[in-house]
Amino acid sequence: MHCTRKITDDIIWVGANDRRLSRFENLYPLTRGVSYNSYLILDEKTCLMDTMDQNETRQFAENVKYALGGRDLDYLVVQHMEPDHCSSISYVMNHYKNAKVVVNAKTLPMIKQFFRDVDESRFLMVKEMETLELGRHTLTFVMAPMVHWPEVMMTYDSFDKVLFSADGFGTFGTIDGTIFDDEVDFDRDWLDEARRYYTNICGKYGMQVQAALKKAATLDIQILCPLHGIIWRTNPAYFIDKYNIWSTYEPETKGVMIAYASMYGNTENMAEIMAFKLAERGVKVKLYDVSGTDTSWLLSESFHYSHILLASPTYNGGVYPLMDHLLHEMKSHGLKNRTFTFIDNGTWGPVAAKQMAKQVEELKDCTVLNETISIKSALKEDQMGVLDQIADALKASVEA
Ligand code: FEO
Repeated sequence: MHCTRKITDDIIWVGANDRRLSRFENLYPLTRGVSYNSYLILDEKTCLMDTMDQNETRQFAENVKYALGGRDLDYLVVQHMEPDHCSSISYVMNHYKNAKVVVNAKTLPMIKQFFRDVDESRFLMVKEMETLELGRHTLTFVMAPMVHWPEVMMTYDSFDKVLFSADGFGTFGTIDGTIFDDEVDFDRDWLDEARRYYTNICGKYGMQVQAALKKAATLDIQILCPLHGIIWRTNPAYFIDKYNIWSTYEPETKGVMIAYASMYGNTENMAEIMAFKLAERGVKVKLYDVSGTDTSWLLSESFHYSHILLASPTYNGGVYPLMDHLLHEMKSHGLKNRTFTFIDNGTWGPVAAKQMAKQVEELKDCTVLNETISIKSALKEDQMGVLDQIADALKASVEA
């Protein structure tokens, strides 16, 4: 049965929620599923904005049919060719034979790569700032390359002042009836997942996100309609501002993210004491075990906090593998402009701190504090003073 909601008088959400997908891109764990947002514009012409993952084609098909109310579909706009949005293109093309498919020069080759027997006469090619008249609604196409694929474009509807923003401004998590920003407590229930989505999916492409934000700044945006998650109709500026912070790699919060690796609890003990010492000094602190926390969360928190303390045992003459993976992810997502401190542990030959510092040298605009400690097997009472020195240095740096 159909399950839709009105966005405006003319625009209907015809998306679907996927609560069974365990990992987004088969990589990032989903604890609250994900939505695939698709929108139908009803005007003199009818226009569908994107399709969705094949997992949800049945719901999508029912929604589109219901929302059309017996009308034919005139246009399908393809803003993004990742299969979580493009998998149902063939369904739409086969069921709505008169629909023209609106693409740009980079989209069409991808459609031919993903699908067989593509009828090229069905496609309408658009370029930067070209328009499509639907009646009252005029759509303007705004290219957003590498946010986060090369063919991505956003679409501005000047009648309802809606920016259909492709993956941009998306979040993990299903939208369960309450689909608008004013119907949820975003800071409490959504912000962490939104940050995890941004940093892992788009984090590497800050410069390209900035370019898209500059274009968006020229538009009067009243409603933000992304392809995943909450739709912004009351305070889109709030979320645009978050994207501005994240895409410039500015820390969102002054404080310390501690990530530790610990085989038998001794490095954990040291990391935990550090968390207590920082909290006692009034410093905001979050503590994570790399073995119990998916790296997508740790990367997200690395973007969140200004300071990062990494604590690792030495393993096979190097860094503990899951900590090594976190450092790899920081590098591959282009994290920069953070202050690091390292502490390590080694029953013999501790080298983890040195090797973590070496990896951080490859990140841009990062600072490493001199204060550190290397313990042999377990922390001793006479080493507590060094932890105090590290906590003092972190506090001074956070408050600088
Ligand atoms: Fe939601 Fe890049 O796909």
